[in-house]
Amino acid sequence: MNYLIRIIKICIKHPFLTIFAFLAGTLSMGASILFPTLLGSIIDTTTASIQTGTIFNQPMIFLTSVIFINMLFLGIFTFAKSYFIESLAENVSYDLRKKFFNHVINLNFAFHDKTHTGNLMSRAITDMNSVQKLISSGIMDTPFQIGLLIIVPILLIKSHWQLGLLSLIISITIITIAIPLRLKVRSLWLTIQKNLANLSTTLQEDLTGINVVKSFGAENYETNKFKISNKNVARQIVSAELIRSRYVALKLFAFLLLPGIVLIAGRNLVLTGQLSTGELAQFLFYLIMLQNPVVAIGGKIAIFVRGIEAAKRILNIIDSDSKIKESSNLIIIKDFKGSIQFNNVNFSYNGIPALQNINLDIQQGMSVGLIGSPGSGKSTLFKLIPRFYDIDSGIISLDGHDIKMLPLETLRNNVGIVPQDISLFPITIRENIAYNKPTAEFSEIIRAAKIADIHSFIETLPNGYDTIVSERGANLSGGQKQRIAIARALISNPPILLLDDPTASVDFTTEMRINKALKTVTQDRTTLISTNRVSSLIKTDLILVMENGNIVDKGTHYSLLKTSTIYQELYHIQTQQKVA
Ligand SMILES: Nc1ncnc2c1ncn2[C@@H]1O[C@H](COP(=O)(O)OP(=O)(O)OP(=O)(O)O)[C@@H](O)[C@H]1O
Ligand SMILES: [Mg+2]
Repeated sequence: MNYLIRIIKICIKHPFLTIFAFLAGTLSMGASILFPTLLGSIIDTTTASIQTGTIFNQPMIFLTSVIFINMLFLGIFTFAKSYFIESLAENVSYDLRKKFFNHVINLNFAFHDKTHTGNLMSRAITDMNSVQKLISSGIMDTPFQIGLLIIVPILLIKSHWQLGLLSLIISITIITIAIPLRLKVRSLWLTIQKNLANLSTTLQEDLTGINVVKSFGAENYETNKFKISNKNVARQIVSAELIRSRYVALKLFAFLLLPGIVLIAGRNLVLTGQLSTGELAQFLFYLIMLQNPVVAIGGKIAIFVRGIEAAKRILNIIDSDSKIKESSNLIIIKDFKGSIQFNNVNFSYNGIPALQNINLDIQQGMSVGLIGSPGSGKSTLFKLIPRFYDIDSGIISLDGHDIKMLPLETLRNNVGIVPQDISLFPITIRENIAYNKPTAEFSEIIRAAKIADIHSFIETLPNGYDTIVSERGANLSGGQKQRIAIARALISNPPILLLDDPTASVDFTTEMRINKALKTVTQDRTTLISTNRVSSLIKTDLILVMENGNIVDKGTHYSLLKTSTIYQELYHIQTQQKVA
């Protein structure tokens, strides 16, 4: 209920549209309620006129004009009602979509780690549609349907109470039979939609991981998996349609049955003079008018249930407080030098420790290597510097300032990161490189590409810098993607550069090329490189050896060869591998 009130409050933020929609709705309802009465009167007047032989008398002309004006107003107000309601629903969903996107994009990595992308997509699209429907067909239309459900029965009883009562009893019987059927169809459709969403997630996962599927020859396995889910959904749709057909048939039968009964009973009343022909016609018109809201009730209940559920899912995301918070006393710094300090830093992912008691003092301009077995915490250490995750305890500082006191934008603009999993957007290479600085001049883009040693390759492409990167960077090699990502990190010329395993997925020659490029990259800036290859670290000023979230040894390549057994082992295994 709380969520419904919140959606209503968002509607009220558009007072012009809300008021005009209600005004148009009320006037259109008024005009439609007046219509049967006018029609009844004109039938009686016509009958009287025929009897007196004067068809074009004054009351006839007056009534015809009134009916004409009434119909004109009915058309205008009905049009205005749907125009204002749809505009209102669109405006509210625009607001919600904007809020949702702004919020989701600002949520931290911890949130995105645990939330499925497909789930967020379905909230942004399917749930948003349900909320829109909740506003247009639910909140804004239901009061008028309820209005008709109250006013029309009163008018029916007023016309002829016995006939009115009989009609109402039959109507209520129809509602009691129809609503459960309608709700059953609805709940079946909800299951179908859930299964359809799962089907589309399977499809999305298969297509994203098409390389894996193909490389393991798993096409048949995946095809079968898909076939089973697909068949299930198809079967459910058929059974839902079966129940729906029953509901439609019942509705149609009831639609014809009720006026039929009234016509037979009413005929006798007309013949015995208890009702005039016009009054009977008026009664029949009101009865037909009543059928709409009666039938609509089941649908409205479903729209409210589904819309509120969807609103809850969207609003829960908007309410989620997983943003990286900025301090209220931010320190504004113009020029960063690039020194990094870690003081007793501890960090865990959902309670599982990933880094323990890290102490570091990296001076401006130093090149630092991180080495350690997979899962030892190298990438995690990198992710803490631009505050992708907030630490549990301790302090991380840049140039002596706690990073929590720096504006996030400043922090992230000064810390360039080349992540371990490179993802490029399906836009041009030029736009990819300038992603962090869309205003970059072309000369700056070329400069960054040259430092990353990718410029000459880009020049060989038919469209050069305007080449579109295919989805998942399929038209680039691992090393090329890596160097484009390095250029992207360099575009804003950050004083601190974090390179997470830049030579992981490349061969020896490319590794040499990247290492050569890195030599230029690391000049004049503080650089941290994580790697599993000793050969990439020989020239660094400091090497940190990591093990199970701890820094177990520190030193230069030569000092570690003497003091660190882990480092010695790594060195020997890797040099032997090369010799072999
Ligand atoms: N997003 C995450 N959520 C939960 N646990 C995580 C997450 N990322 C990493 N971990 C865990 O934290 C530990 C450190 O992972 P990390 O990625 O920092 O290792 P790494 O040293 O970079 O390994 P590699 O050499 O394979 O890149 C691992 O045990 C890993 O399972
Ligand atoms: Mg890593």
